[in-house]
Amino acid sequence: MTERLPPALLVILGATGDLTRRKLLPALGALDARGELPRPFVVLGVARDPHPDDAAFRAIARDVLPRFLDTQVHYQTIGDGAPSDFARIAADIESLEREHGLPGNRIFYLALPPQAFVPTIEGLGAAGLNKSAGVTRIVVEKPFGRDLASARALNALLQRFYDESQIYRIDHYLGKETVRNLMVFRFANPIFETQWNRDRVERVTISVAEEVGVGTRAGYYDHAGAARDMLQNHLMQLLCHVAMEPPAAFDAEAIRDEKVKVLRSMARLSAGDAVFGQYDGYRGEPGVAPESATETYAAVTARLDNWRWHGVPFLLRTGKRLQKRSTRIDVHFRAAPVRLFSRIPGCDVSPDRLTIYIQPQEGFALTFGVKEPGEHIRVRPEHLDFKYADAFGPLAEAYETLLGDVLQGDQTLFVRADWVERSWYLFEPLLNAPPAPLPYKPGSWGP
Ligand code: BG6
Repeated sequence: MTERLPPALLVILGATGDLTRRKLLPALGALDARGELPRPFVVLGVARDPHPDDAAFRAIARDVLPRFLDTQVHYQTIGDGAPSDFARIAADIESLEREHGLPGNRIFYLALPPQAFVPTIEGLGAAGLNKSAGVTRIVVEKPFGRDLASARALNALLQRFYDESQIYRIDHYLGKETVRNLMVFRFANPIFETQWNRDRVERVTISVAEEVGVGTRAGYYDHAGAARDMLQNHLMQLLCHVAMEPPAAFDAEAIRDEKVKVLRSMARLSAGDAVFGQYDGYRGEPGVAPESATETYAAVTARLDNWRWHGVPFLLRTGKRLQKRSTRIDVHFRAAPVRLFSRIPGCDVSPDRLTIYIQPQEGFALTFGVKEPGEHIRVRPEHLDFKYADAFGPLAEAYETLLGDVLQGDQTLFVRADWVERSWYLFEPLLNAPPAPLPYKPGSWGP
């Protein structure tokens, strides 16, 4: 794989931030350890901080990139982000490319807080850094806007300087192995696909429960809330992977076309479709407004008006400070038309269920009724279980997959402009008039 990756320069904007330290550098380290980085490959860290010079940034990087040569890691401050600052970065890039014999393939990774996206994209564009002698790609972290209008404006700004084929909008859920496998599971195994419709499925639940609270991120989170932070992006992506039709081909455009079609068939959400909650004690967290009405729990019922799913509710729910960390999708199949065993005492004839465990344990389980051994008929639910860890050992982190895909130029796992706008469009009525959040106890399952 390495041989096929063209030499490149990765510019990380926001190089001293949390995301770079916790996710991006370790992901690069893991790719490097597997020999999956191009050669030559150079990282230029950029941030406002004037202090870390090459040496200090290298010290951060060396911890997580032990195989990297120091000459591959550089740092440049962006100052206040004035045009001259971007011009200096441009000059730096050119000199690094000369020094390392790079052909001008550049990846700009915006690992920045949301308010920095617009000035950075403008600065890069004005300095001519949106194109090069090779390929130029721009990677934009979430949140992509905070409503339909801001997402449209951000798309318009990006499209002023870049072609859609250069733009990689991150949703790290798409990089999770279990999410990627959903397509294989559905479209390589016809026994499930024939059951995957309104005749056989009664409802689908998609849950992302987190044990952690808002932590140190109140500055962002208290203005976002669970619906913006998780539902509109991560859970809606999961919904699309469960509900989409088979794509015409296994390529980025065909797959992303099908996902947009799912959104086009979905009704807009409003307060009547939702339950919001806020954990007790949230208002006392550092940085949270004392009267905050921000939801830390959000659940919605989505309805898809298409031939496959008409009448099947999709329940999406997520929250912080819940009982335990658990991300899963449950497909609840319809009960048998005639329930022969339901009147016999000791028979639990719950309908069959397929569970897709996304984290912390990755795998699948099919739950069905079996007869307990013995003279009497007693039925209880049992499981057929598949665990990734048993078959494959530990899985790659989402950011490893996603960074690898950016280097390769594969946009399948990235969010297309029309998807993000349509998703905000669906959430707009709900976000404009949200329900009041109900209190819930930390450590519970929500309101
Ligand atoms: C992020 C959200 O996108 O996803 C966080 O901003 C959330 O609030 C995180 O905690 C969850 O990601 P994961 O991969 O731990 O489920």
